[in-house]
Amino acid sequence: MKFATKAIHAGIEPDPTTGAIMTPIYQTSTYVQESPGKHKGYEYARTQNPTRTVLQNNLAALENGKHGICYASGLGATDAILKLFKPGDEIIASNDLYGGTYRIMVRVFQEFGLIFRFVDLSNPANLEPVITATTKMVWIETPTNPLLRLVDIAAISAITKERGIKLVVDNTFASPYLQNPLDLGADIVMHSVTKYLGGHSDTVMGAIILNDDETAEQLAFIQNACGAVPGPQDCFLVLRGIKTLHVRMQRHCENAMKVAHYLQQHPKISQVYYPGLESHAGHVLAKKQMRDFGGMLSFELKGDSMPEAIRVMESFSVFSLGESLGGVESLCTHPASMTHASIPKEARLKNGLKDTLIRLSVGIEDVDDLIQDLAQAIA
Ligand SMILES: Cc1ncc(COP(=O)(O)O)c(C=O)c1O
Repeated sequence: MKFATKAIHAGIEPDPTTGAIMTPIYQTSTYVQESPGKHKGYEYARTQNPTRTVLQNNLAALENGKHGICYASGLGATDAILKLFKPGDEIIASNDLYGGTYRIMVRVFQEFGLIFRFVDLSNPANLEPVITATTKMVWIETPTNPLLRLVDIAAISAITKERGIKLVVDNTFASPYLQNPLDLGADIVMHSVTKYLGGHSDTVMGAIILNDDETAEQLAFIQNACGAVPGPQDCFLVLRGIKTLHVRMQRHCENAMKVAHYLQQHPKISQVYYPGLESHAGHVLAKKQMRDFGGMLSFELKGDSMPEAIRVMESFSVFSLGESLGGVESLCTHPASMTHASIPKEARLKNGLKDTLIRLSVGIEDVDDLIQDLAQAIA
């Protein structure tokens, strides 16, 4: 089945009771049993919910994986993955990560004895020298948030596979429409479903997709034992959102490419970070491992003036200033004070994230209006 057909149909059957084409919202906390332990596969809604089951199967199909497991947020999914490990286990993560991912690693799991090392994995050669006997997992994002750096999933997975280390890819920025990390050798794909998968800025959710039965069982155990499950209404909204994922992503990519070209030639802009630009350091790799270049980009103004960057962000009328990304509406974010504020300033600057960086989630409005909005705000 091709991607667009899977987005609409995979794992989804008409409702067995009524034939409803849309999966119903099973808004229930429990299920009636005929006699103790004799039931239709559903006992209690933290453990299983039919709306969630359908979404999990659909997500697994989109990532070409066997198992899909949903959590109450992207960070709920990250939390579940990190709970697979024990004190003393070491995790190597790329140094250009979503701020909340860095925060849960350093402020929560480091306190419980997990050891984290943050390394620039945009060069896979940097991985081998930092692996030790206790390294259990490598965690990457690609493209990264917010600098849109590319990490070579196949090259990193060749190293992790040889050493028996798990590779996790946060695929939030690309979405399964643009990139399938399991096909490139990753062991686990993680999503903030809140973003492109939901697509309409109305739901917070996370997901993990993987092939390994044993790890999937452990993650489902954590889903039930720790309880960070999404509600059925949110599962319905995401199922509905996914039905247009391919169409939305096409337009996000088209619009972002046009916006990137516009910004690149603008006399007041010094730097545009977008993997679709030939000048981008990861352009060749992006062409190899992604099917298009996505809807996210960041840029810097000449002169690096903080008041000027703030003035631009306050001047937009079509772009809204806000956290998050991946919705149909265009958003502008100031990573240093918003999405990445939980990373210490020195660490941010060391990784190239300036206080004056502006990040755009290019929506699916008419691109002429977006460019006109950028023109009037930057002028
Ligand atoms: C790349 C990335 N990963 C993970 C997350 C966390 O997801 P959530 O906000 O759904 O918990 C985010 C949120 O912005 C993100 O951008």
